[in-house]
This record gives sequence, C-alpha cells and structure tokens, in this order.
Amino acid sequence: MPGRDEWWRNAACYEVYLRSFADSDGDGIGDLPGLRSRLRYLRDLGVDALWITPFYPSPQVDHGYDVSDYTDVDPRFGTLGDFDAVLEGAHQMGLRVIIDLVPNHTSAQHTGFRAAMAAGPGSPERGRYHFRPGQGRGGLRPPNNWRSAFGGPAWTRVPGAEGQADEWYLHLHHQEQPDLNWASPAVGDEFESVLRFWLDRGVDGLRIDVAMCLAKDPRYPDLRRGDDRHPYHNRPEVHEIYGRWRAVLDSYPGDRMMIAEAVAPDAAGLARYVRAGECHQVFNFAWLETRWSAADFRRIIKDTLDAVRAVNASPTWVLASHDAVRTVSRYATSGPNGNAVGLERARAALLVMLSLPGSAYVFQGEELGLPQVDVPPSARRDPAWVQSGGSMPGRDGCRVPIPWNKGEQSCGFSPAGSSAPWLPQPQSWGELSVADQERDSSSTLAFYRKALRIRRTVLGGLDDGVVILPSAPGTLVLARDPGFICVLNCGSRPARPPAGDLILSSTHRPGSLLPPNSAAWFHTGGTNWVSRR
Ligand code: NOJ
Repeated sequence: MPGRDEWWRNAACYEVYLRSFADSDGDGIGDLPGLRSRLRYLRDLGVDALWITPFYPSPQVDHGYDVSDYTDVDPRFGTLGDFDAVLEGAHQMGLRVIIDLVPNHTSAQHTGFRAAMAAGPGSPERGRYHFRPGQGRGGLRPPNNWRSAFGGPAWTRVPGAEGQADEWYLHLHHQEQPDLNWASPAVGDEFESVLRFWLDRGVDGLRIDVAMCLAKDPRYPDLRRGDDRHPYHNRPEVHEIYGRWRAVLDSYPGDRMMIAEAVAPDAAGLARYVRAGECHQVFNFAWLETRWSAADFRRIIKDTLDAVRAVNASPTWVLASHDAVRTVSRYATSGPNGNAVGLERARAALLVMLSLPGSAYVFQGEELGLPQVDVPPSARRDPAWVQSGGSMPGRDGCRVPIPWNKGEQSCGFSPAGSSAPWLPQPQSWGELSVADQERDSSSTLAFYRKALRIRRTVLGGLDDGVVILPSAPGTLVLARDPGFICVLNCGSRPARPPAGDLILSSTHRPGSLLPPNSAAWFHTGGTNWVSRR
C-alpha cells in the first residue's frame, strides 16, 4: 500500500525472554520495569524491534505460555502501566514492539476453562475447548493417540459429576494448557477483542504462538505417519483465522504486523502463512535446525527465497530462540576448544544471516556469545523436562538470566540483596557480562553492534535480490547489488576472498585468506552481481 512503512520487511528483531532479561524488583524474575531500564542498551545494539515473550497473568507452568487472562499483566512482571511505559519508551527510541499472543491454548486456570470444567458434558462452555468421550469400556482410554509436545498423551481425563459421563480434554502441550476449540465462534470473537485491546494500546506487532495447530480435524482421527493431511498441523481452516486477524490489523493506523510461529514439512508449506491477506511473516526455523554446512545453508537460503517470492512476501532468518540450544553450543565441536569454535561459527553465521534480504531475529544473549548452560537437574524448571520424566533435556539451558555486570550478585540481573535468579547462573557467567564486553572492542557484543550498524546503514541500501555465486566446496558466496559480497567458510582450509574491500570480518584473525569457521563482508566497487545474471 503506498505511503506505508513496512518496517518489518527488513527489520532486525530482538527476542526479549522477559523472565531472564532484567529483574527490577529483586524476586529473581525479569520484569517490564527491568526491560524498560535496559531499552537504551537495545537501541545502542542497533536492533529495530523487540519481541517480548508473554507477560500476561499466568500460573507460569510453561513460563507464561499458559495464559489465564489475555488482557492484563502478571504482577510478577509488573502492571499494565509498566507495559505502556515500555511501549512508550521503546517508541521514543525508535524501537517497535511485538508482543506474544498464545491462541492455541489457555491456562487451565483461565476462567473459560474453569467454567468448562464446572459446566459438564455437552455445555457451550465445554464447546470452547476440546472435550471428548474416551475409548473402550468405560471410556478409560484417551480419545485418540495424539501426544503432548512435552511427553505423554495429549488428553487428560475428567471424571463426570454425579450421573454425568467422564470426558477427556485435549492439551497438545502441558495438561495445564488446554487447547481452545477454534471451531467455536465464541473463541474467534474473544480473540478479536484481545487483538484490539493490544492494538489500541499501540503495539506494532504480534507473534502468534504455535500458529499451525489452531485448527483440529473435527473427527479427531489417530495420527498416522504418512497421512496426507495432519489432524492438527497446517490445516486449511487455520488460514481463515489469520485472514480475519489481518483485516483487524489493516484497519489500524500505522504498520501493524503479525508473525506466525509455525513449522511445516517444507518452505512452500510455510509460505502459505504469508500469502496475501494473511500473516506478514512466518518464522523460518530451518537454519536453527541445520548443522554447520555451506551446502545446507545454500539449500535453505534458496528454498526460503523461492518459496516466499512465490507469494510476494519477505523472508525471516532465525539462528536461536528460547526453545533451542544456543548457537555457540550447537556449533561447538567436541574437544577442549569446542565452545571457542562454536563461537567463531556463531559469529560467522550472524554475518550470513544479516547479509540476507528480509528480517533477522536475534535471541537475547546471542550478542554476548552466551553458550548453553548445563543447568543441574534439580534446578531445571522447563515442563518439557518435568513432564517427560527427564527424557527430554528441556530448554532451561538457553534461558539462564543475562549477565549485565561481573562481580555483582546475580551478575547484575537483579538488584543487590535480591532473591537468587530463577535459574542459576554458572560461575563463569560474569566473564561474559555486558559491562565487560562494552570495555573490549574485540568482544562479541562490539562485533554485533558493528554488524547491526553496517546492516542498517550500508546493507539497508542494497536491492532485495541475492544470488549465490559459484564457489569452492565448503564455502558459500552471496552477492547483492550493488557490489556487496558475503563469503562464508565452513571448510577445513582457508578460502580465497573476492577482490574487493573488506567491510567486516567475523574472525579476529583477518588476513589475505578467510580462515575456516569465519565469514566476511566485502564491497566490490559498483559491480552489479544480481542484474548481470
Ligand atoms: C512455543 C513457545 O515458544 C514455547 O516456549 C512454548 O512452550 C510452546 N509454544 C507452547 O506454548
């Protein structure tokens, strides 16, 4: 639409995992005033937008992804006034704010679910969730074979009151996270008012949690490998929901956006979420799941660009999130220097990600080069760890609170004299603190700041096209017009860079050759790589 500023198309977005970002009141849990006090840090980092994980009232069984009230703030995180202050402060600094909406499930403590439990079988209240009779004699077996993402069956049995039948309710995640029934018109209407509540307050965007699961096959069939249509993933009805939301967003002034958290079998499946009249973006997790390989990166880039271009959308790139092993550890090699290699690779991957057209999503702490923490089993809090009986490692290791200063209690995450942070920080955490890295011009933080600044100033002026140039095995060479080249070396030998001026290198050892596990940006005069082809 002419006159629109589609800021999200090329934004660098920073994921604030609120519980672990900055604690202002000393309870060991990050909060909105803590975030507000660190907005300047984010502005100076050079990102364009923040995505804040859920801060709504919640029993915190899944750390906020179990919402008991969609239009308020949990006292642990502050008040609605604190949210408004974060929004206003961010806007004053030129930062957009994306909030996290959780429409697939509520908390079991949500008034709607409590009413459903009280109302009994066949009631309209139960119709807003998925209550079903069990199978077999006495309905003692779950309605089907669906499994919870955190382990165990996706159904929990509810004994009937006097004279009433037992039923089971669906929860694709924890049993305290019952799935909403989006076939019920009341659910759609309620969410439209939730959307309006936050859009009226001025949020710039919405991240849609588990966006591909909202529609379920009304026959509730067993899940069978190889079935043409999954009973609850990426069903056609789900797109009608986002069409309705898009119309709501478009009716607001300014450029409001929504990004779907979805997984699909391929890039084309994901691109269905960003067709005209639906979501603006969809997270592209392919990179986050791939090993360190130039060939794999090449394939992901090509598949992603082909798929989003076919629907005229813009791509997203994600290296890390609060659900995944941190990049440094994911790319670490075995052996004593493993994490050092992991850090070199993480820095190189960042340069590749930032050199691509589209938006880049950065997870808090990646700019400090934080590794995954091996949280002692007794301190782990992730429901995936708890509910799976320890068979899933859980995601606590990437969620350890941010080290702001060395030497201070909780590394400056909480004020002095506070409760211990909700997840323990390792001994070495302070060495990686923001304060220490700000003093060191060769730190990962300094590198991130430089890369983000160049991305905004220099790369922001490049055309949207990108070509993958032929290159030696183990390397990847991307070119954008006019005259920009990014080279990545995943091989085991040094690689020859293109003729041109070095803009930025990920390695501390720049020379005439590009060492293994590094990447660099070059300017090659006025060369037009894309249009020449
Ligand atoms: C995806 C979120 O990122 C994750 O943290 C959460 O556990 C699930 N959705 C369930 O809401």
